[in-house]
Amino acid sequence: MTQHLAASATGTAAATSDRPGWWRDAVIYQVYPRSFADGNGDGMGDLPGIRRRLPYLAELGVDAVWLSPFYASPQADAGYDVADYRAIDPMFGDLHDADALIRDAHGLGLRVIVDLVPNHSSDQHEWFQRALSEGPGSPVRDRYHFRPGKGADGAEPPNDWESIFGGPAWTRTKNPDGTPGEWYLHLFAPEQPDFNWDHPAVRDEFRTVLRFWLDMGVDGFRIDVAHGMVKAPGLPDMGHGEQLKLLGSQVLPFFDQDGVHEIYRSWRQILEEYGGDRIGVAEAWTPSADRTALYLRPDELHQAFNFHYLNAPWESAELRRVIDESLDSMRPVGAATTWVLSNHDVVRHTTRLGGGLTRARAATLLMLALPGSAYVYQGEELGLPEVTDLPDDVRQDPSFFKSNGQDGLRDGCRVPIPWTTSGTSFGFGEGGSWLPQPEGWGALSVQAQTGDPGSTLELYRTALRLRREHADLGAGDAVEWLDAPEGVLAFRRGAFTCTVNTTGVPVALPASPGRVLLASGPYEGDGTDGIPAGTTVWWSV
Ligand code: NOJ
Repeated sequence: MTQHLAASATGTAAATSDRPGWWRDAVIYQVYPRSFADGNGDGMGDLPGIRRRLPYLAELGVDAVWLSPFYASPQADAGYDVADYRAIDPMFGDLHDADALIRDAHGLGLRVIVDLVPNHSSDQHEWFQRALSEGPGSPVRDRYHFRPGKGADGAEPPNDWESIFGGPAWTRTKNPDGTPGEWYLHLFAPEQPDFNWDHPAVRDEFRTVLRFWLDMGVDGFRIDVAHGMVKAPGLPDMGHGEQLKLLGSQVLPFFDQDGVHEIYRSWRQILEEYGGDRIGVAEAWTPSADRTALYLRPDELHQAFNFHYLNAPWESAELRRVIDESLDSMRPVGAATTWVLSNHDVVRHTTRLGGGLTRARAATLLMLALPGSAYVYQGEELGLPEVTDLPDDVRQDPSFFKSNGQDGLRDGCRVPIPWTTSGTSFGFGEGGSWLPQPEGWGALSVQAQTGDPGSTLELYRTALRLRREHADLGAGDAVEWLDAPEGVLAFRRGAFTCTVNTTGVPVALPASPGRVLLASGPYEGDGTDGIPAGTTVWWSV
């Protein structure tokens, strides 16, 4: 069982858990700093705002907090374009705020994981600026991927790779004298040049950055684009377009190259050196769960986001297949599986799964009954839907601009969350909110839901409390599937059974699984009377 020593409901602070292997069944809450809480009333969330709300997270019952980037950044990609890896962007605060936040979190029993962005920097990073101003031949250029263009006058990109945000993955520079110059590689926005990880200075720099934050006391790193740092030698052409469609199906010359593993082996040594069970979490897009497991060999990272699960449709056979595959693939490397339904890059699962709040709540209880660690994205505990009607002129996501307005999905899950039923930006801050909140946001606020036993917030609080109280719910590496009617998933977890009715009609079980411990919707029967449509039930056997 998680010996989570978070503040109790009475507000008593306690020390951070030092249970070995704490992450294996941890519930980790993602804070998106821009949109969580605004401490200084400038309309943008910040570290002091987060710090003030830490007791809410401790009371919610999560084990750790993962903070999306707060580093000095021109914000071309909401902070995933870092100009200085050792500084806090003034919009979020300063290093004293970060230090205070980490200390307070630890005092409340919460671990702190920070985001590390090693695949690319900002184009405003000192190295990249020097590379541009020193011109072709500058040794600093070797820290990125600069190349002459193709064609007689070098006017064509060096290869055919496409940016994840749309368009070519190359941008042409101007020489210091103003003439057209070399091109540089950016798998994301042009403001995010890719580092050349074959260069020892890049490797050294990131080892130092790791130590900087470990010295600050962080408990781990979420590693952005962990599959992307090493490129195939010679940067070979892909040979065809529509490369985005291949992302999840095969190893690409710029993604999931075997060379990345050496980097993680060296990082693991640093994490071990610091002790205290500090972890590395890979954001790795790979073609299969087996390839993801390679990042989690005992001498590499500790966890990886399970995007195969996140992408699974709400369909019983497919869910069961992905759950089995996820668990099976991790067993050989001895890593704990993770589960995730929402984050700052995807449509919130209340909207994405297509069944509104009913289905979202059922999906959550399924996730929290599975063995391993679960990631919760801020606001999902309030059942927030995706905001789908943001006007074009408030959008900030680079993928929206690069795709000529055809794709703008990432701002809709980043709208600042509501804390109070009314007031300026529903308690987010005193100075409005950087993305407009929908009118009805107050009814979904923390204030509105607290104490309402039917609310989604109380469902999360109860589920997380039960997970802490009953080791069986998160522990182990297997589920025991039980026979169930068509469209229903049923599995045993020690002294508990979980049933998930994915269908749109009530389904009666042949025999009662036990006593209802928790249900995602109103239900008090014994299972044989028909579990309501789209409902997950935890049973005490
Ligand atoms: C993944 C991050 O989650 C996303 O928000 C970002 O745009 C890309 N990596 C590039 O850093």
